[in-house]
Amino acid sequence: MTGQTMVKAEGVHKSYGAAHILRGIDLEVQNGEVFCLVGPSGSGKSTFLRCINHLERVDGGRLSVDGQLVGYREKNGKLYELKDSEVAVQRRDIGMVFQRFNLFPHMTALGNVMEAPIQVKGESKAVARERAERLLDRVGLGDKMGNYPSQLSGGQQQRVAIARALAMEPKLMLFDEPTSALDPELVGDVLDVMRDLAESGMTMIVVTHEMGFAREVGDSLVFMDGGVVVESGNPRDVLGNPQHDRTKAFLSKVL
Ligand SMILES: Nc1ncnc2c1ncn2[C@@H]1O[C@H](COP(=O)(O)OP(=O)(O)OP(=O)(O)O)[C@@H](O)[C@H]1O
Ligand SMILES: [Mg+2]
Repeated sequence: MTGQTMVKAEGVHKSYGAAHILRGIDLEVQNGEVFCLVGPSGSGKSTFLRCINHLERVDGGRLSVDGQLVGYREKNGKLYELKDSEVAVQRRDIGMVFQRFNLFPHMTALGNVMEAPIQVKGESKAVARERAERLLDRVGLGDKMGNYPSQLSGGQQQRVAIARALAMEPKLMLFDEPTSALDPELVGDVLDVMRDLAESGMTMIVVTHEMGFAREVGDSLVFMDGGVVVESGNPRDVLGNPQHDRTKAFLSKVL
């Protein structure tokens, strides 16, 4: 059964060698929520997203998605690491969109969106194609399905990347600064797609510097610095009336 909480982090720690990056992250993301994560460069935002879909292993604390521990199984109070194949099964329910679009350069937009359901889920080409066409239509690229990535603008490539993630029918979407590599005039179309996705009820964690988007579309906002959550709440409140000096200092630079 699906619960109310989609992501739960309790005292999550992560180090790279001697560098202690995540220093006890506690947060909860509810089903259907748009959860914005902001903070200075190096504060651990990408690291945390990568832990959620187990591209990185958490070294302390507990992290669960939809009630399941990420990367571990608990038995008699002890944690056991999952096998790679079990991790892969967990990961395919989580869509991730990066700053750089990472499309397959040798495949068309349509091919990019069809690929994972065929390869990972063993879906038939016909079914994958039908869904891919629908998704590309939805992100406003119905007329660009046959274009290769090199024949698309950055904003169009990013919308293909979003459609590609959605093709796996994820229960959670992670966005890591999806618009920060784009020319300013291309940002709006990508944010429109994300807004549409939010309205459809998708649970989304969005690392972003687009405070306008966070204020309008976000249900919650967390300000992270130095690997901890400094402040969190309703985006309008946190952005409009930050309580901590570190939050104020950061916002004075980005707003
Ligand atoms: N694979 C890695 N090995 C060693 N250190 C890493 C690795 N990945 C990230 N780090 C370090 O962890 C810290 C946090 O990085 P992270 O990418 O999570 O920050 P961020 O908040 O996403 O920053 P930005 O806003 O610049 O994207 C940085 O100091 C970075 O150098
Ligand atoms: Mg980052």
